[in-house]
Amino acid sequence: MGDDLFMSKIVITGATGELGQLVVQHLLGKVPANQIAVSVRNVEKASKFADQGIEVRYGDYDDPSSLEKSFAGASKLLLISTPQDDSVVRIRKHVDAIEAAKKAGVQHLFYTSFAAVDKGAFPLLGDVHSATEYTLRASGLSTTILRNAFYQDMFVNESLQSFVDSGVIVTSAGNGKINTVERSDLALAAATVLAEEGHEDKVYELTSSETWNYDELAKILSDVSGKTVTHQSRSDSEVLEGMIKAGVPEGFAHFLVAHYNSIANGNEGNTSDDLEKLIGRKPISIRESIIKYKSL
Ligand SMILES: NC(=O)c1ccc[n+]([C@@H]2O[C@H](COP(=O)([O-])OP(=O)(O)OC[C@H]3O[C@@H](n4cnc5c(N)ncnc54)[C@H](OP(=O)(O)O)[C@@H]3O)[C@@H](O)[C@H]2O)c1
Repeated sequence: MGDDLFMSKIVITGATGELGQLVVQHLLGKVPANQIAVSVRNVEKASKFADQGIEVRYGDYDDPSSLEKSFAGASKLLLISTPQDDSVVRIRKHVDAIEAAKKAGVQHLFYTSFAAVDKGAFPLLGDVHSATEYTLRASGLSTTILRNAFYQDMFVNESLQSFVDSGVIVTSAGNGKINTVERSDLALAAATVLAEEGHEDKVYELTSSETWNYDELAKILSDVSGKTVTHQSRSDSEVLEGMIKAGVPEGFAHFLVAHYNSIANGNEGNTSDDLEKLIGRKPISIRESIIKYKSL
């Protein structure tokens, strides 16, 4: 145990979150637990990691000095982007975390960015990641950028049942394409590069080599449920009005329409085989995710 204190560690932030938990789970299959530490704001919530032999450290993005301590001795640090909504606040937190990593002497920083940020993908989310990527480049640290696709999990939820029940999906996305990947596949890719040597100064587009659009989603739902589902694409303002009337919170309705807009404009359909190469197989497709979700 005493030796563990001096062992250089792979430190994971955001480990109590959905993605972070999966990264730790995959990493446990690749390196011994005593080589992993998690940096979390809620140490109690992370007790299951301690039970598995993982070192739990207190680190809060709102308290940079706690981050520096929690990153100490990290040969590798996975900085999982913060969930805060306000872009300026998120960038501040990322800059603080990068400075803390430098002060702590972190040798290699891995950051979860957003797919195709350099190609104009969804600026509402992409701007934070672009700013963070530039900060990382300016930091002089050895870095690996993991540009995560949109989480497929966010499309495979109870909303599918409402599409099946109503027989219609209404968007303003037209026949624009979107690239989505399950969190678990993104986490496997992160665990793979963390466990391996190398990957310094690399940017990986963790997207699928295949994309889908809402017409195809409707077809998949029809196939899986046995009921006819169609996609109707309308104007942004019609879709926005319809969502607000249906009780969707206004901020979220605007977010969804901005996303449809980005899809319609062809900004979300970038593909890459980086993910497939890292995980050694095709990522789970949207059809496979829907089939394993539940019977519709
Ligand atoms: N690619 C995409 O489609 C997509 C979609 C959504 C989000 N994201 C980004 O990906 C990240 C990870 O996704 P996720 O699904 O794992 O999100 P999540 O489940 O919300 O996890 C966020 C993690 O950040 C931690 N956290 C929040 N505020 C913190 C603070 N002040 N100090 C330290 N830790 C803090 C949370 O800790 P607690 O457990 O204590 O709350 C949690 O561990 C998100 O934060 C977001 O930046 C990407």
